[in-house]
Amino acid sequence: MRVVVAPLRSFPSGERRIVEVGGRSIGVFRVGERFFGIRNRCPHQGGPLCLGHLLGDAVADAPGHAQISEDPLRIACPWHGWEYDLDSGQSFMGTVAPGVKSYGVELSPGGSLAEEARAAAPAKRVPGPYVAETFEVNIEDEYVVLHA
Ligand code: FES
Repeated sequence: MRVVVAPLRSFPSGERRIVEVGGRSIGVFRVGERFFGIRNRCPHQGGPLCLGHLLGDAVADAPGHAQISEDPLRIACPWHGWEYDLDSGQSFMGTVAPGVKSYGVELSPGGSLAEEARAAAPAKRVPGPYVAETFEVNIEDEYVVLHA
């Protein structure tokens, strides 16, 4: 199932959206030009994982030049701090801790989304003899789309 999350221009880097898809709460994150989708339910005790802080590794190429790496990127659950890889959902709390479900996220042109919606619409009506005047509408923006 593909779910349109937001227009790209209204989803700046560093933000997240939490969407409901088929009874599941899923967080979609943008970090720079990368997007991630992860289940908003911590496998430990069911905490709201996607409300947690994003973490990177502290790296330094010389003394005094430390910075936070964006790769790998992890999320820490706000309840007890268990950490998960944002891309794969892999847990980092020992071998017995289960991972969390992750989802693919892509950018898709608005025009192709509109075309898909038209193609998926059921043809239930029989066309009549009259045709109203119509006008072409272009959808040019890109949209963030979750594969759930
Ligand atoms: S519920 Fe997430 S770490 Fe405990």
